[in-house]
Amino acid sequence: MLNLRDVTKSFDGKSEVTALAGINLAIGAGEMVAIMGPSGSGKSTLLNLMGGLDVPTSGQVMVAGKDLAVESEKERSLFRRSKISYIFQAYHLMPTLKVSQNVALPLHLAGVPAREIAEKIALVLRQVGLEARGSHLPDELSGGERQRAAIARALVTGAPLLLADEPTGNLDTARGEEILSLLRSIHRERGTTIVMVTHDHHAASACERLIRLRDGKVEGDSAATGGGR
Ligand SMILES: Nc1ncnc2c1ncn2[C@@H]1O[C@H](COP(=O)(O)OP(=O)(O)OP(=O)(O)O)[C@@H](O)[C@H]1O
Ligand SMILES: [Mg+2]
Repeated sequence: MLNLRDVTKSFDGKSEVTALAGINLAIGAGEMVAIMGPSGSGKSTLLNLMGGLDVPTSGQVMVAGKDLAVESEKERSLFRRSKISYIFQAYHLMPTLKVSQNVALPLHLAGVPAREIAEKIALVLRQVGLEARGSHLPDELSGGERQRAAIARALVTGAPLLLADEPTGNLDTARGEEILSLLRSIHRERGTTIVMVTHDHHAASACERLIRLRDGKVEGDSAATGGGR
């Protein structure tokens, strides 16, 4: 599903920052993988490349057989829409749209009929425990509720690849546990490939494989200790 070869990413600014310094990784279809590492080690940068949100400075990023580095912006965005769901570290909910409209957005973009959209939204809002918050604006929600709205928006399309940047970072233990078991059941039932960045060892142990980053390099890559509970 994902194949990265000699991937580097640098950012120009006042001084050049090397966020990724030669990443080689293969993630198969249907895997559920955790990425851990210190703040600044390149986790979000790596996830952005996997999601086609950014392109590498050098190297190759293959997603479902497509080399995203050589695609145009427009082609990448079409590809993303059908194949990739993304839970952002900073949520990126549209502030002027209600929760239900935010969640509906990817379905509208995919041309799903209105009647189906209503059903899918009701289901996914129930799954993340936000059924009573659909008509609220993101500003009216707590941090954890916003996070769950962002998760609902990512899950609603049923894309084969789900990339999640600290999906339980703002949730209490019980809510975090619910979201993890929701992700696990989606992984099991739909065969969704999940790559999840997390600081939480408990969340990582819900995955089958743990990749550790340090200073923009893969420091470790092994079966997660929890064995995917
Ligand atoms: N747009 C950018 N411009 C300049 N530097 C950037 C940019 N994005 C990331 N970086 C730098 O690249 C490095 C890796 O950042 P990244 O966001 O991938 O870290 P992270 O592992 O996700 O950290 P955290 O756990 O804090 O979210 C950091 O040193 C960061 O400052
Ligand atoms: Mg990050």
